[in-house]
Amino acid sequence: MARTLWLDDDQRLHTWDQTRLPFETVAIELADSQDCARAIVTMQVRGAPLIGAVAAYGLAFALRSDASDQGLQAAHSRLLATRPTAVNLRWALERVVRLVSSLHESDRAAAAWHEAGAICDEDVACNAAIGRHAAALLQPLVTGERALQVLTHCNAGRIATVDHGTALAPIYALHEAGVPVHVWVDETRPRNQGASLTAWELRERGVAHTVIVDNAGGLLMRQRRVDAVIVGCDRVAANGDVANKIGTYLKALAAHDNGLPFYVACPISTIDPLCAHGELIEIEERSAREVTHLLGRDEQGGLREVQVTPDHSPAANPAFDVTPARLVSALVTERGVIPARSDAIAKLLGGGAA
Ligand code: MRU
Repeated sequence: MARTLWLDDDQRLHTWDQTRLPFETVAIELADSQDCARAIVTMQVRGAPLIGAVAAYGLAFALRSDASDQGLQAAHSRLLATRPTAVNLRWALERVVRLVSSLHESDRAAAAWHEAGAICDEDVACNAAIGRHAAALLQPLVTGERALQVLTHCNAGRIATVDHGTALAPIYALHEAGVPVHVWVDETRPRNQGASLTAWELRERGVAHTVIVDNAGGLLMRQRRVDAVIVGCDRVAANGDVANKIGTYLKALAAHDNGLPFYVACPISTIDPLCAHGELIEIEERSAREVTHLLGRDEQGGLREVQVTPDHSPAANPAFDVTPARLVSALVTERGVIPARSDAIAKLLGGGAA
């Protein structure tokens, strides 16, 4: 199956427009740096690893028209400002900047383009490894005839990455290995990444799933209808606190109260060693319109936005929350499974085996 971000035979960059899924599967071309930045801002591309990969290409495009130091800095700042919370954006941009800074201006654009491709290839390999490690954690939870019951929040699937996904990677690995698995999909208001994207991609792959409203998870956990929770992340602080889509924290609390494992699928590129703890993570505040209005398909098949709140009621829209490390059972990285603790994270980032 195609990657989420791909080059065609003429080296033109394409991705899916995620604002139109699940109703329309539309590929869009990202033809220059502005297209890359706009796609991130409008959330045509979203999900921490995919944002990082698109930003890296955005920088490479920019260097084609201005490869001077000033041009590099300006493009870096423009792309960095597109979204604040997912650290993969900064990680990918800095990786490209580090590489090209020492090069002659005439070599910068090609080197950056190549590096963006390397970031994509590495993302695919990392996520496959996360899938293997997390599958090994989840498989022992299968009991008797019952399918493994996993709850996830938001979309940390293949559409949020270049391929495989992070939190969904073990689901695909288990499904492909013939292990019966069923996913409880939190709808994930306000933008419904669970209901629209996670459900879409699980259905595409033939994985059993059920979409639930965001508040249903606690009940299902109390009823022992959930074996484990696994989510992705946008930034993990050096002490193991985890920023992820708004509502994640409540799922972690409910999992803790019910003695259920709460796993965070976490590529090393999502760990921010410069951020001591979660309180320091900038939480993106998005448009109130995402709360007051809902987008969906009408009976004629057209996409329609409807208002769900009274006229003039104010709405607030923090897009992420922080789950304290003490509620995280483990971080599942491409190098293995580690506790969400500063010593384990420091060792991992230092190159130590998990
Ligand atoms: O606002 P979004 O849709 O970009 O938020 C995405 C999430 O919160 C994901 O869980 C996270 O980026 C991990 S994606 C592998």
